[in-house]
Amino acid sequence: MYRTHTCGELRIENVGQKVTLCGWVQLKRDKGGMIWIDLRDRYGITQLAIEESTAEKKVIETVDKIGREFVIQVRGVVIERYSKNDKIPTGDIEIKVEDIKILNPSEIPPFTIIDNTDGGDELRMKYRYLDIRRNPVKNALLLRHKMAQEVRKYLDAQGFIEVETPVLIKSTPEGARDFVVPSRMHPGEFYALPQSPQTFKQLLMVAGMDKYFQIVKCFRDEDLRADRQPEFTQIDCEMSFVEQDDILQTFEGMVKHLFNQILNIEIDYNFPRITYTEAMEKYGNDKPDIRFGMEINNISNFVKGKNFVVFDSAEYIGAMVVKNAAKYSRKQIDELTEFVKQPHLGAKGLVYCKYSADGTFKSTVDKFYTSEDWKIISQQIKAQPGDLILILAGDKYKTLNALSELRLKLANELGLRPKDTFAPLWVVEFPLLEYDEESRRYFAKHHPFTSPLDEDIPLLETDPSKIRAKAYDLVINGVEIGGGSIRIFNKELQSLMFKNLGFTPEEAENQFGFLMNAFKYGAPPHGGIAFGFDRLCAMFGGSDSIRDFIAFPKNNAGRDVMIESPAPISQQQLDELGIIIKNN
Ligand code: AMO
Repeated sequence: MYRTHTCGELRIENVGQKVTLCGWVQLKRDKGGMIWIDLRDRYGITQLAIEESTAEKKVIETVDKIGREFVIQVRGVVIERYSKNDKIPTGDIEIKVEDIKILNPSEIPPFTIIDNTDGGDELRMKYRYLDIRRNPVKNALLLRHKMAQEVRKYLDAQGFIEVETPVLIKSTPEGARDFVVPSRMHPGEFYALPQSPQTFKQLLMVAGMDKYFQIVKCFRDEDLRADRQPEFTQIDCEMSFVEQDDILQTFEGMVKHLFNQILNIEIDYNFPRITYTEAMEKYGNDKPDIRFGMEINNISNFVKGKNFVVFDSAEYIGAMVVKNAAKYSRKQIDELTEFVKQPHLGAKGLVYCKYSADGTFKSTVDKFYTSEDWKIISQQIKAQPGDLILILAGDKYKTLNALSELRLKLANELGLRPKDTFAPLWVVEFPLLEYDEESRRYFAKHHPFTSPLDEDIPLLETDPSKIRAKAYDLVINGVEIGGGSIRIFNKELQSLMFKNLGFTPEEAENQFGFLMNAFKYGAPPHGGIAFGFDRLCAMFGGSDSIRDFIAFPKNNAGRDVMIESPAPISQQQLDELGIIIKNN
């Protein structure tokens, strides 16, 4: 037997017991006469004590050879510690070592394996197996495990069954680029990796499975960010004979269950539901952080017609009130102006008005607006003495986007986004279609199987841009955690939808014929949702980066620097696949 206990297990009650432990050497301290070793495994750290005057010679000789990250086995007696360490659960005891064995030596690791390591990002990723020995990463994986177990527990209790779907498939409709896999047996043909199991879960509904879920890998070849990986995990779900409300209820229940079981947070209210339009108008984006107010107000009607040409010529003018910020310095406001002028936000400038504590107004556009004007505007947007009013004007959606970014930046600076506060909400009634100016055609905002609102179906023939969908997102703290929709289950409506998306009947048949075919044999009304599991874990773990919650993530360039992937393949493999690499 390698060990009787783990390194996180022994307590004062165990004093006097003979034990055997195994683990990695975190630290060795030689204090002249006494040597201490911190022995680490997944469960914790236990201190080993070797008294040079009483220990056997071979024990001392072995200890001499031991360095950091050596794997060792020790036998000894649990004794009470002279100076206790109340920072760790085993801090009352130590092991008086009687025998010690090196199971495997270690080279000096490329970075120190402690919580606040000196290892940079790239180095830690290259040696991820050493990184995982550190508490922050290990704990992130433990949290992920616990979350997955709780998801399964909840969904199983609700009657969902977990079904695996294939990974070598053909293009799915989520709208990103596919990763493709060449087929050796069918030269010139390719599998696509699933961007999600969307079509399969719908087929499972036709198959009568009624309630399906899967914790499943999805693959999307898109530009990466802190909350995006090329391969990521979804909690993917689908239900039959449901309406939107059934789905929102069921999965609100799941999210509450997770908050309760994992974070011990009881959410005893219904998640707010706001429409896409309302989210855009109030927060400037479709995944609002509602932990704080600072909402955006359309003030076009109150500021136009005063000869200020910037406002008069703008499609949209939006204002935001920053509480108690009238005292902001010129420098602070200049910095905000530079922020919104960044090319990707594209604002021409930032208009501000300081509503001083004494009730006076001072703005950058005093030439055009009197104190009376500002009083009216202040009433409309609920600004109080002491507040700062920030205004942007321009194209509606560009301006809303810039205001949204400004809102988040200010909230970060003002400490309004604490990581241990959670504000979930549903965003509903997304537009069904999105018009792309470049290709001059509509794209499905969610995917082509999403059902329009019943009352908007006639618009498919007249004004497709106005159609709202039975589509919904779960948003927590400004992060899109999940999204789904009620599906079209009627063949005629689906054909009409494909037509609007610019598919010829042949193209639709070619890409989704299998699904359309299945729908001929009695498709039940159905709908579903998928949660970004990595995002959910990161949110619960208080991190913005999903990489921390993935055992072996890719870097921002989509590379696994540990296994060095992607990598070229041999000429023989290329030949077998019938592939010639073009040299650009
Ligand atoms: P959607 O495309 O909205 O819906 O994806 C669902 C959720 O998956 C997460 N997500 C990602 N997480 C990490 N890295 C990525 N690259 C990434 N892309 C998406 C998000 C998102 O909310 N089949 C539909 C669901 C349905 O209709 O039932 C789908 O995949 O948190």
